[in-house]
Amino acid sequence: MDSSVNLAKPAPGSSSAAAETFLSVRDLMVHFPTSDGVVKSVNGLSFDLKAGETLGIVGESGSGKSVSSMAIMGLHYGTGAKISGEIVLEGTDLLQLTPDEMRRKRGQDVAMIFQDPLSAMHPYYTVGNQIMEAYRVHNDVSKAEAKRRAIEMLDRVGIPNPDRRVNDYPHQFSGGMRQRAMIAMGLINNPGLLIADEPTTALDVTVQAQILDLLQDLQREFNSAIIIITHDLGVVAEMADDVLVMYAGRAVEYGPCKEILTHPEMPYTWGLLSSVPDVTGDTDARLIPIPGNPPSLLNPPSGCAFHPRCIHRDKVPGDLCRTTMPDLVPGQRGAHHTKRCHLANSDAIYQNEVLPEIAPDLADELPEEQR
Ligand SMILES: Nc1ncnc2c1ncn2[C@@H]1O[C@H](COP(=O)(O)OP(=O)(O)OP(=O)(O)O)[C@@H](O)[C@H]1O
Ligand code: SF4
Ligand SMILES: [Mg+2]
Repeated sequence: MDSSVNLAKPAPGSSSAAAETFLSVRDLMVHFPTSDGVVKSVNGLSFDLKAGETLGIVGESGSGKSVSSMAIMGLHYGTGAKISGEIVLEGTDLLQLTPDEMRRKRGQDVAMIFQDPLSAMHPYYTVGNQIMEAYRVHNDVSKAEAKRRAIEMLDRVGIPNPDRRVNDYPHQFSGGMRQRAMIAMGLINNPGLLIADEPTTALDVTVQAQILDLLQDLQREFNSAIIIITHDLGVVAEMADDVLVMYAGRAVEYGPCKEILTHPEMPYTWGLLSSVPDVTGDTDARLIPIPGNPPSLLNPPSGCAFHPRCIHRDKVPGDLCRTTMPDLVPGQRGAHHTKRCHLANSDAIYQNEVLPEIAPDLADELPEEQR
């Protein structure tokens, strides 16, 4: 593979900016008025991301992951969506841009790759043409130059014989190759932020691992910030610096990946961990699905939206879980870790009750005082 791709502009984090926040989302709200009522898809979502770092957004289906990322991409224009808050990318609030200004940013400064590249790519145009178009929209270059870049990028993402495959149509590529081509298209303008929405869900495990490795290689090379959206905590464990757990359109737990995976404080996160035993690497781990289904965002439950499914709500005094929505507050181990839950001693409950159930090997290794 050719790793000498000439970058069109300096990597966003190549200077002292590396340590600064590259993307700052504040109090993001996305609501969709419909004939049945208002779908409250995203409510008060806030997070930060630095250049070269990866944020994993996890949560079950319908928790608002894609709607949030589409807001960052400016893809809700014209849908009637009500959006408020701030999405500040390198000092510019994207929510204040006109549709034309946002169109110029899209592909250039922020790019997105989707779960299903076949539906994201046009079946009547060659893969090469679509990558060339993504480049020419933002760069005044000849078709020949754009084709050279497209071949270079296809080579960089590991497509064999790129000078020949550039002329293939999407259906002539395998699923893994299409995802590689989407990544090539997403990165051809060296955007500072790449959003990968379930990029490996449709792929088999081996190809999945290759695509995640590729994303990590390219991130190191381009110093991009990445948001990876996934149901799979295994993907998060491999890729993410920070993790944001979403439930019913809200952040319910947020913090450094290692912290969230080893000291989760929100029962919903425990549920996600319980249903993915290999995250803990425990040989005796049990797979325990979360009971019930995610709620409707037309009429979310009162209080803590997770309360109808939460097996720990009886540990909270009174009827608080059903009546009062918990704020997102610092966890027991410091302000770098926030959680939305009324439980007072959640770290102890996790270590003493939840961990022995889902990962007995790990629980056995804990010091006596933590069991
Ligand atoms: N245009 C729309 N109009 C009305 N409701 C919408 C619209 N787009 C999304 N929603 C609703 O917003 C909620 C969040 O959807 P979103 O696509 O963000 O979920 P998700 O977390 O990405 O789920 P999945 O894991 O299945 O992709 C869902 O209830 C969905 O039905
Ligand atoms: S607030 Fe109550 S219902 Fe919600 S996760 Fe915590 S214990 Fe469970
Ligand atoms: Mg989605």
